[in-house]
Amino acid sequence: MQYNEIFDRLWNDYSKQNASAGRVKTLFEKQGDKVVNDHVAFRTFNDSRVDINKIARPFLQAGYVESGQYHFGAKKLNAKHFELPGIPNAPRVFISELLLEEFSPWLQKTIANALDAADSNVFDDEKLIFHGRPWNKISYETYNKLREESEYAAWLYVYGYRANHFTVSVNYLSNIGSIEDVNNLLKESGFTLNTSGGEVKGTKDELLKQSSIMADIIPVEFEEGVYNIPACYYEFAERFKNEDGELYSGFIAKSADKIFESTNFYKK
Ligand code: NI
Repeated sequence: MQYNEIFDRLWNDYSKQNASAGRVKTLFEKQGDKVVNDHVAFRTFNDSRVDINKIARPFLQAGYVESGQYHFGAKKLNAKHFELPGIPNAPRVFISELLLEEFSPWLQKTIANALDAADSNVFDDEKLIFHGRPWNKISYETYNKLREESEYAAWLYVYGYRANHFTVSVNYLSNIGSIEDVNNLLKESGFTLNTSGGEVKGTKDELLKQSSIMADIIPVEFEEGVYNIPACYYEFAERFKNEDGELYSGFIAKSADKIFESTNFYKK
């Protein structure tokens, strides 16, 4: 698949499930702006059936190359980012994986059971990123118990393989000058910002500022019944030039650490 076909399909699924993303995009377009994606992010486990390398396959085939590695100690995650050389407005791809061996035997067993219950053909399929949750049944009790150890694990247990978030490039917005202006517009329009670590994560000196709205709350069917829980969120990124005049293209682990919390459980 061509890179733009991959992102069109991911956006369709994501914006259908998370109405706020479409509403924010329309809000920018009404200001006369064109929305370009800074990056699109995915979550997975470091089990060899589904690890970062497995998720990266369709992007590598589309010409993407690995461009950065990250570690998140507190959240027990590794991540890599990928770029498409020669196409500056192609979204970066950010893939993180949960380091299962650093969690309790119960969490490891729960995730292993879920992976074992799925049809292994799904994992071998390069279109895994469109598949959603490959294991059928989910329990609300298990979801809540996973949350005690890792909100990330709980989110992934419910939603599986899909875009976790799209990210609007503030640099490409010509009528909205800065990430602070984006945040003000979002607040005026009634969206809830993720305030963990402040409304803006990162500084101009770090060459990257990021913000996000909290994930939409949607009804999800569990074995015990339907419960409303957070789904996906929309992120915003403003990049700055270094001393050599080059736009910074990487990620700041300290900022991303807080952005991850946009899918934490909360009540509206
Ligand atoms: Ni992001």
